Formats: sequence, C-alpha cells, structure tokens
Amino acid sequence: MTGVAHRFTSAAAAQSAAIKRVTVVGGGQMGAGIAQVSATFEHPVTLVDVSQEALDRGKQYMGKSLARVAKKKYPEDPKVAQEWVDAVLGRIEPTTNLAEGVRKADLVVEAIVENIGVKQRLFGDIAAGAPEQSVLASNTSSLPIGRIAEQLNGTRRQNMVGLHFFNPVPQMKLVEVVKANETSEDTVARALEFVKSIGKAPAVCKDTPGFIVNRLLLPYMMEAIRLLERDVAEARDIDTAMKLGAGYPMGPFELCDYVGLDTIKFIVDGWYKDGEGLQGNNLFAASKKLDELVAAGHLGVKSGRGFYDYSKK
Ligand SMILES: NC(=O)c1ccc[n+]([C@@H]2O[C@H](COP(=O)([O-])OP(=O)(O)OC[C@H]3O[C@@H](n4cnc5c(N)ncnc54)[C@H](O)[C@@H]3O)[C@@H](O)[C@H]2O)c1
Repeated sequence: MTGVAHRFTSAAAAQSAAIKRVTVVGGGQMGAGIAQVSATFEHPVTLVDVSQEALDRGKQYMGKSLARVAKKKYPEDPKVAQEWVDAVLGRIEPTTNLAEGVRKADLVVEAIVENIGVKQRLFGDIAAGAPEQSVLASNTSSLPIGRIAEQLNGTRRQNMVGLHFFNPVPQMKLVEVVKANETSEDTVARALEFVKSIGKAPAVCKDTPGFIVNRLLLPYMMEAIRLLERDVAEARDIDTAMKLGAGYPMGPFELCDYVGLDTIKFIVDGWYKDGEGLQGNNLFAASKKLDELVAAGHLGVKSGRGFYDYSKK
C-alpha cells in the first residue's frame, strides 16, 4: 500500500490550502479523542454533538487524558502542566449547533453512530453549511465511504475521504486514509498532510470492507473463536500461544473482549450478508459461541464479562 501513498505527493497538497481549522462531529469516545489530538497539535477545533451531556462528558474525558500527558511532559511543574492542559482545551470549542460549527472548517471529521442513513443525513447537513473546498471525512469502521457520500454533489464527493482512527485515539499511532472511487488526489494529499500534522502515521487504502486492519483482524478473531468451538484449546492457551509464539501484544480473546463482542458480531454479520466481495464467505459465518455470549450480554471488558471475567479485577 505504500505505493499508493507515494503517488499522492506534497505537490498535490499545495493545490489547496493546508488544513488548519478542524470540526469534529460526534463527541463520544472517538470524536473526543480526535478533537483532543488535533488541538494538541495546534489546530483550532470545533466539537459538535447533538447532546450537551455528551459534550460535557467529552470535555471531562479529554481533560483527564491531557492531564496524564502533561504529567509526563512536565513532571516537575504541576502549574505549567495545568496551563498546558488549559491551553489545549482552550483550542476546542464545543457546540450543539452543526451549521455554525462547520461554517469555517477546512476539515470536517464525522464520528457519530455507525448507521448509514444517519451518516448520510448528517453529511447532507454538513454540505449545506461547510465551505465548498473543505475536506469531508468519516471515521466509520465498517461502512463504505462512497455510500456515505453518494447523495452529495460531485465536488463534495471528490472532497470526501475516510479517516479511520483507532481506539484510544491519543495512544494509537495509525490512521487509515481511505480513498473512495471519486476521492480526488488533492483530497488524499490534504488528508495525508493533516494526519502527519497531528503526529499520526497514515496508511492509504481503497474503500473496501474493513480497510486494512479490520479486514485482517476479523478473520483472525473468528478463526480463534472457531478453534475454541472445536475444543482445540482453551482461550487462555490460545492467547498465550499467539503472544509468545507470534509476538502479538494481546491474544485474540483479549483483543475480542477489548473491541467488544457486539461490535465484532455486528461487523461480521454485515459482511456475511452484503459486504462487497465478502457475501457468504465462511470466514464471516455466524459463530454459535459468539452469538450466545452477545445474547447473554457478555460483551467483553465494557460489560465486565466476555471470553474472560473482569468483574473481580
Ligand atoms: N469505538 C471504536 O473503537 C471505534 C474505532 C474506530 C472507528 N469507530 C467509529 O467511530 C464512530 C463513533 O464511534 P464512538 O465509539 O465514538 O461512538 P460513541 O457512541 O462513543 O459516540 C457517538 C457520539 O455521536 C453523537 N451523535 C449521534 N448522532 C449525532 C448527530 N447526528 N450529530 C452530532 N452528534 C451525533 C452521540 O451523541 C455520541 O456522543 C463510529 O462510526 C464507529 O464505527 C469506532
């Protein structure tokens, strides 16, 4: 994929102004992280959410996360550390007014619920208010960028790209830059410049289910679950094997529990049913074990139990 990345040179980026003002729509786990990292690297940020409560929660989350960074950055000086946190938070303007929030944006990053209809409607509203030349990006994990943008006009579709951040955003270095069929080279170049400007490493890929990371991880997780179903080994032994034998930092069941079993089921069911080129692929067929855990509400770390029990930790 590096070959794809190299074709989008900084010369292309020079055609349009570099991205300065960033608007993030959706102030949840991902949106707050994207806003925080952008502001850390000096971008003026507007954070939009439909819920004032979500904006307040997002501010708390960003404050705590920044305080941890500041403590490492200024270990000897709590006053300077707090000033640094306040300066970063001061660059983030929260609002529930979308039209006002996108009015001056060079880049709008959407991080709202994973639902195609809701995202399409939101991008219609964004297009009604954002400057014509702004880059429009979705942080979707599993929906095609081309479909999210399909109701927009030609210029907007050329300016649309996927920016797939990883959780937790402040710690995870990668951003997948997803190029839909109509995304222009100028848009990809501007997106690449932005990703680098916030200290992240981009990987460019085409608009296909799971992009790079999830397209490789989901079959791996599902195959691990099927090993368990066939009683080949215990979850703990499979995790130990992959950590010590393959050098992975987490075993597949630790990873499944961290990601959330409901999220995994939602993605594989969708791909099996109508993922482009993946329909009926046995790698993504339903797993009895996974279905039972999800039906019982055992969703992983977030619910206190998944493949492992976290309630006593
Ligand atoms: N959680 C992850 O690990 C992860 C990783 C990569 C990508 N993603 C993707 O990022 C997106 C957001 O995920 P999340 O985990 O942050 O979700 P979340 O539920 O934590 O946050 C979503 C936020 O969007 C807000 N929202 C909903 N509709 C809105 C609208 N129309 N306008 C403005 N705000 C609206 C909600 O109030 C909520 O605060 C999804 O598309 C998800 O697939 C998630």
